[in-house]
Amino acid sequence: MLLDGKVAVVTGGARGTGAAIARRFVAEGASVVLVDVDDVGGAATAEGLGDRAAYAHLDVTDEAGWTVLVERTVARHGRIDVLVNNAAILHIGGIDATDGDTLRRVLDVNLVGAHLGVRAVAPFMAAGGGGSIVNVASLDALIGMNGLSAYSASKWGLRGLTKSLALELGRVGIRVNTVCPAGGNPAMFAPWGGGLAALGDGLTHYLADRGIPREADLDEIARAVVYLASDQSGFVTGIDLPVDGGHSAGSHLPGFDTL
Ligand SMILES: NC(=O)c1ccc[n+]([C@@H]2O[C@H](COP(=O)([O-])OP(=O)(O)OC[C@H]3O[C@@H](n4cnc5c(N)ncnc54)[C@H](O)[C@@H]3O)[C@@H](O)[C@H]2O)c1
Repeated sequence: MLLDGKVAVVTGGARGTGAAIARRFVAEGASVVLVDVDDVGGAATAEGLGDRAAYAHLDVTDEAGWTVLVERTVARHGRIDVLVNNAAILHIGGIDATDGDTLRRVLDVNLVGAHLGVRAVAPFMAAGGGGSIVNVASLDALIGMNGLSAYSASKWGLRGLTKSLALELGRVGIRVNTVCPAGGNPAMFAPWGGGLAALGDGLTHYLADRGIPREADLDEIARAVVYLASDQSGFVTGIDLPVDGGHSAGSHLPGFDTL
């Protein structure tokens, strides 16, 4: 029960990684408000998690919407201890297929949305003596990848946001950290032809490069978020925690260690 009695807001909680985080948070004793733009999925996920989970509609790019969400959460629960900025959208495409509007849309959800979330919750967290903010970035926030310029830029931006806010908000008891998972919900890739599996050998080589050559399980990501959200990480702020099987550590060259 690492989060016993804590009140958490998880964005993008309707499905995938956000739903896994909400599930793990409830199991660790937290009350969770899931927010999303997918009202059907969000309501179903919250209902499946029991009395300590509730769903609320919020587009994370809506600044006024954040104010309403936070005021309602504090009115109901008395405070907010944890914010997980997990909502994001993906764009895959070369520079020729990534125009300014596309870049702005990706930055708006993935980076501006997180900034607005922190802005909305920080005064209430500070008034309650502090809290923990966890930003869900990606392996693509630690390295680059062809076809991901917009997405990668948004996720590297999230790391910058994290480090600056960790320094700014530490004085009022708020810690700010990032998790960088390699993997998540395969459904995120659906608009690009059914997911990474379609890459065949390319995907096999991509995964084989890792120390642990497989995708992350969603609950493995959720457990890392629990650590950063909980008092177990009380002196940890401003970090990027890779949950990537060692992908960002370097390359595994088969046979090189037995030459
Ligand atoms: N899918 C992957 O392989 C992968 C890999 C590394 C990191 N991530 C990151 O993990 C996090 C969760 O992604 P996922 O894999 O669960 O994908 P997902 O598409 O299942 O989840 C994203 C959620 O965010 C919601 N969302 C999108 N725009 C929103 C908005 N404007 N306001 C509120 N909610 C919005 C979606 O409805 C969805 O429920 C994201 O930050 C993503 O960038 C994913």
